[in-house]
Amino acid sequence: MKLKVLNQMVLRFPSLSENERFARLAVSGFISSLDPAVDELSEIKTAVSEAVTNCIVHAYRDTVGEIRMEVRLLEGCRLYISVKDKGCGIADVARAREPLFTTAPDEERAGLGFAIMESFSDKLRVTSRPEHGTTVTMLRTLRTRKPQNGSGS
Ligand SMILES: Nc1ncnc2c1ncn2[C@@H]1O[C@H](COP(=O)(O)OP(=O)(O)O)[C@@H](O)[C@H]1O
Ligand SMILES: [Mg+2]
Repeated sequence: MKLKVLNQMVLRFPSLSENERFARLAVSGFISSLDPAVDELSEIKTAVSEAVTNCIVHAYRDTVGEIRMEVRLLEGCRLYISVKDKGCGIADVARAREPLFTTAPDEERAGLGFAIMESFSDKLRVTSRPEHGTTVTMLRTLRTRKPQNGSGS
């Protein structure tokens, strides 16, 4: 079933650490018209932070590359977020998604990023190709308090 897109945005930004905060705030601003509950908004921002941080610290380790974040608001209060990089990629995605798995234990990474994204989404999809990059897609139905009409306020 193809859901109607009510609103959408795409951002491209370099993998600088300060852009983790920018990405969180951008998503937060984009969905603010729906008046999401505080805990829900905070979970979405945390999930986005984890995805963007992974691009910064893993995908483009020792270099700076482009991160592309796409957010769509679909009918039925469904939120679609994708975070894409063209970095080093992940050889074994299933293993990388296991809680506590990390390739950067020396840097105090807990290996919980994917577990957090998973628990704060209804569905998390991770596709990756070594040397080509990774795309993380999160889907979540919002418990919005505002009715949607898609025709402006
Ligand atoms: N965008 C990415 N590009 C390359 N590798 C990634 C990316 N995201 C995650 N990984 C790999 O998956 C592992 C697990 O990620 P995560 O669960 O966020 O834990 P952590 O970031 O604490 O290591 C990382 O250690 C890294 O090896
Ligand atoms: Mg992580």
